[in-house]
Amino acid sequence: MKKRLLPEIFITAAFILLCAAWPGEARAAWRAVGDVQSVERRPDGVVLTLTSGARAAVTFHDLEVIRVRLAPRGAFGRDFSYAVEPKDRKTVAAKISETRDEISLSSLDGTTVVIRRRPFLITVRDPRGRTIVEDDPARPHAFDPETGEVEATKLRPEWETYYGFGEKAMPMSRHTQHLVMWNTDTYGYPRGLDPIYQSIGFFIALRHHGDLPRAEPYPRGHAYGLFFDNTHRTHFDMGKTAPHRYTFGAQGGELNYYVFTGGRERTPRRVLQDYTELTGRTPLPPLWALGNQQSRWSYFPEARVREVARGFRETRTPADVIYLDIDYMDGYRVFTWDKTRFPDPPKLIGDLRRDGFRTVVIIDPGIKVDMNYHVYREGQAGGHFVKDEKGAEFHGTVWPGTCAFPDFTSAAAREWFASYYRRHLEEGVAGFWNDMNEPGIFLSETTPKPDIYHHPMKTFPLDARHAGDGEPGTHARYHNVYGMQMARATFEGLRKLRPDERPFVLTRAGYAGIQRFSAVWTGDNVASWDHLRLSIPMLANLGVSGVPFVGSDVGGFSGNPSPELYARWLQAAALTPFLRSHSEAGSNPHEPYSFGPRFTDINRASIELRYRLLPYLYSVFREHTQTGAPVMRPLWFEYPADDRTYLNEDQYLVGRDLLVAPVVTEGVTKRKVYFPRGDAWVDWWTGKRYEGGTEAEVEAPLDRLPLFARAGAAIPTQPVVQHTGEMVGLPLTLVVVRGADGVSSFYEDSGEGYEHRRGGARTTEVTQRGNGLDIARRGDYRGRRVGALELLGVGAAPPRVLMGGDIALAHERFEPASGRLVVPLPVDAPVSFTIVP
Ligand code: GLC
Repeated sequence: MKKRLLPEIFITAAFILLCAAWPGEARAAWRAVGDVQSVERRPDGVVLTLTSGARAAVTFHDLEVIRVRLAPRGAFGRDFSYAVEPKDRKTVAAKISETRDEISLSSLDGTTVVIRRRPFLITVRDPRGRTIVEDDPARPHAFDPETGEVEATKLRPEWETYYGFGEKAMPMSRHTQHLVMWNTDTYGYPRGLDPIYQSIGFFIALRHHGDLPRAEPYPRGHAYGLFFDNTHRTHFDMGKTAPHRYTFGAQGGELNYYVFTGGRERTPRRVLQDYTELTGRTPLPPLWALGNQQSRWSYFPEARVREVARGFRETRTPADVIYLDIDYMDGYRVFTWDKTRFPDPPKLIGDLRRDGFRTVVIIDPGIKVDMNYHVYREGQAGGHFVKDEKGAEFHGTVWPGTCAFPDFTSAAAREWFASYYRRHLEEGVAGFWNDMNEPGIFLSETTPKPDIYHHPMKTFPLDARHAGDGEPGTHARYHNVYGMQMARATFEGLRKLRPDERPFVLTRAGYAGIQRFSAVWTGDNVASWDHLRLSIPMLANLGVSGVPFVGSDVGGFSGNPSPELYARWLQAAALTPFLRSHSEAGSNPHEPYSFGPRFTDINRASIELRYRLLPYLYSVFREHTQTGAPVMRPLWFEYPADDRTYLNEDQYLVGRDLLVAPVVTEGVTKRKVYFPRGDAWVDWWTGKRYEGGTEAEVEAPLDRLPLFARAGAAIPTQPVVQHTGEMVGLPLTLVVVRGADGVSSFYEDSGEGYEHRRGGARTTEVTQRGNGLDIARRGDYRGRRVGALELLGVGAAPPRVLMGGDIALAHERFEPASGRLVVPLPVDAPVSFTIVP
């Protein structure tokens, strides 16, 4: 038995807490998996029996995706995963060769896994024989036969950075961090607190090769990805304990992980494409869900809801959605209404709808234990609730008092729960917000609490029982998927109840793959400048974890933002995928028009900017469905060859063409902006050009969000509307960013339903080459016409735009302050233009 020492003294405070709360620090029992004893060949790889009795399967999941499965006790469980999207997949053939010391597997394109026999160690190589990632020979895969814990350790080259890991209140790169996956309700979480609400054990590693010779065609920024698919409490030590290695492990289950090599490109984009091929992508949301959303805990009674809606329309502040938090219900019983506060929900919802507002209501998992409450009675009769270790219905306390909890890991319970959405849909509710689904429960008065705020046991007992979709198990095993399966119940239920509508679901907790079912918001953040700053790396990292539809409570959930903080936050969030203001009970008003007239104007402008750019934003969501690329992107995602982007965390890209550099510091009206190397950038407001690879100080007065467009791009915009219902038929304005050749495309469909899957869609491709500008269309959908071109970045002497080769256009207008030449187009405008300098 191989003994392993306790990790070095550099154990973090978090880790100490972890050990205190999680008994079983018996590391003395850890065993290495040992040597390869026998090899069984399979079409896609090998199954190895190891001297410890453990078995390992090393296979190609795809040409450039390697899967490693390790069963410590030698028997593989059913091959089932909540993360992996169920669909037909081809088996990838592996070429297998063996020598005395090694077994090697190659896929068709030359990606190779070399397995050393003594001891069992894995190295993944690219088609040119370069190492992508390799095990640390000093720490082979290991397990603890007493506790069931498993662990793997890889070598970490100096300067390798790590991104993803879902939702973490941490800086952009997670190198030298210790991270835990255990969904936790963490009200007012401070920077660095870990874990919080989501568990996504996927990361992208990025490494720069500044030393490569110039002639070397190999990319300078190398990426690969790794996804550890294990629903137990897991941990990742990304070079914290020792900088030259990283370790990941779980408190139970198999070591089951995927390595994404990134193919020939070795780009983050390619890694994320393969990861989302495995775990799924977010389908196109309904267009209205991309609009501005307003929430609060809680707007009630109905007169207050109407007043808030009126406030938006009267101040001409665009908005599409209004939220009802827990106080709409009768004693917090989900799927009921408080009839005093909301005497006629269909009437209210209908009136709001006519005014362009959709209504979203919160639905929590806790079902009040009350025999007079039909949902509880029916849930109990159907046996749909989570059981305790003795098999009795488990009860815990949340808002309604004593509650039972649907077991969302049972298909029958999911269907049963989802059936209650029918009533709300009939009343006109448009979307659903699933909260408290880590699951979070309140601690009882008698729970012994150490003097820390976020008690690790603020959830079900670890021995509570779940159905596990045919694989019954404890809460320790299924805790991390509870929230995801609740969101799934909601999403699948809505799909069934309203097959022609796109569901909108918002969730707080999730597991890898949550993007298939829901948008995610970052929970109970704080009205502080630091939380505003933190929101950028948090959201950007969620995006590269496969979850594109993300946002933070604008203004901060807990506490009261100053008018300046709220205004800066709204600017920073205006182009984030999910835009919602939300705040806790008892806080000051957080509506964008509630900070005084000057700020009403500033805030309106931020929201107007979003609405102008909605056609672009929608296209970026569509791009995600095709490639898995996030909507909100960290700079390194598009510019992995530029290492100055690697730690940038106060800027972000929206799609490929917009660069946002919000002000996240109090009292500041200028800021430095880094322009990534490889493209030139044009100031959205002034038309000024900035070269890639440079840094510049830009003006950022309180009423301006620093925003830049990529030279060579063409960005579809529209006139300001008060809500998405007003978009129909409005002509588009195409912002043509001058200064480089380029091809961009944008996407249109009806913004709702599924006709787009049957041909009801159109893609418009815009090509700038020299002085030529061409617009080409593909698809049958009758989209909106381009009513005007806006040439951005044309300098002081504006060019002329000719239709086709020669016909001059009338009514051109040059706006020197914004560096824009505005060219209205006739209804029958052609598709080719010449720009004469
Ligand atoms: C939780 C949610 C918050 C919500 C509150 C009341 O704290 O995170 O958004 O307003 O519960 O439902």
